[in-house]
Amino acid sequence: MRAWRGPDEDPRPAADGAGLRGADTAAAIRDAGIDLDPEPPGRHRHGDLEHEHAHAHPHLRSEPDQIPVTGIVGAGAVGTALGVALTRAGWPIHAVASRDPERRERFRRAVEGTRAFAEATALIEEVELIVLAVPDDAVAPLAATLRMYSGQAMVHTSGALGAEALTPAMAAGTQVGAFHPLVAFADTERAVEALRGATVAIEGDDQLAALLARMAETIGAVPVRLAPGSKAAYHAAAVLAAGGFVALLDAIAELGRVAGLDERGSLAIYGPLVEQTLGNARALGIPRALTGPITRGDRGTLDAHLAALRAHAPRVLPLYRAAAIREIELAVARGTLTPAAATDLRSSLASED
Ligand SMILES: NC(=O)c1ccc[n+]([C@@H]2O[C@H](COP(=O)([O-])OP(=O)(O)OC[C@H]3O[C@@H](n4cnc5c(N)ncnc54)[C@H](OP(=O)(O)O)[C@@H]3O)[C@@H](O)[C@H]2O)c1
Repeated sequence: MRAWRGPDEDPRPAADGAGLRGADTAAAIRDAGIDLDPEPPGRHRHGDLEHEHAHAHPHLRSEPDQIPVTGIVGAGAVGTALGVALTRAGWPIHAVASRDPERRERFRRAVEGTRAFAEATALIEEVELIVLAVPDDAVAPLAATLRMYSGQAMVHTSGALGAEALTPAMAAGTQVGAFHPLVAFADTERAVEALRGATVAIEGDDQLAALLARMAETIGAVPVRLAPGSKAAYHAAAVLAAGGFVALLDAIAELGRVAGLDERGSLAIYGPLVEQTLGNARALGIPRALTGPITRGDRGTLDAHLAALRAHAPRVLPLYRAAAIREIELAVARGTLTPAAATDLRSSLASED
């Protein structure tokens, strides 16, 4: 992974001090030994694109070195939060396209002064930078229905797709890229807050990447470029860290119910343990953060857990087993579990009754 800015450069300060959190994240990335050498700087201006190519159009154009006229397609979780964050940080959103009147109106209430369209084709007539914040599966089909004008750039916010998904919308003198914030967009205000200090994986040629880096820094985020071919693994890790972790919390809450706790009770009781474990992993490294019966080769406890799960929460069993197998590997590698004890534990996990 490659962060956009050099080690001694501070992120561009955002209007509301958002750059401070970005600086913290950049420092943590640097401390983790991740390559922070900046790419050769591109020109920071979208409007330098040639306009005399075919498929020219008199859409609104920014002045040199100004923020490009920006539009967002999709008023869902990501589109709305990005719209709010960018506008608050001084990067205006000129237009939004959403097919759903209610979502359109909600976006307009959240991001005042925005023009709202039902179709992306109408938005393209007005803006220079088009952000497609639509579901992954809709990105390529939607791009295939659009054709950019020279001087325009289009990016999507997907973590799973490369910029090439947008190629069908390209014409001479246009650019495509990606702008993927590593944030769980569960709630608009919480996501706007979380964008400060989050990493944003950007893709595009040097000129577009420089513009996207500036856009990320405006909202206090840290732009990064991923090594070629690594995007799917990077995104799968993000999905485990967000959705996968929620699945784990759900299983914890299910077991909590067996012990008489409601969801709030489980979060109150197990939440501090989760935070402590994350803190231990950060301070000591992941292997040393591993605690519990597996590290000790405590087969009796493991068997008791499996019996309780079979009796009271059988749907949790597959997740418990999968985690235990990974824990055994960690404990063996750490040297706290002998291979013989590991075999014992694995046979408990493999037994069906
Ligand atoms: N959610 C996250 O935590 C997260 C994090 C990082 C990145 N992302 C990525 O961001 C993108 C958007 O995710 P999201 O969570 O914001 O999705 P979402 O909440 O479901 O919103 C998607 C938006 O796209 C519009 N849309 C759906 N299908 C469309 C189509 N065929 N043509 C045009 N518009 C369509 C929706 O409908 P309307 O047009 O009716 O409004 C909606 O406004 C995805 O690529 C996702 O992988 C998500």
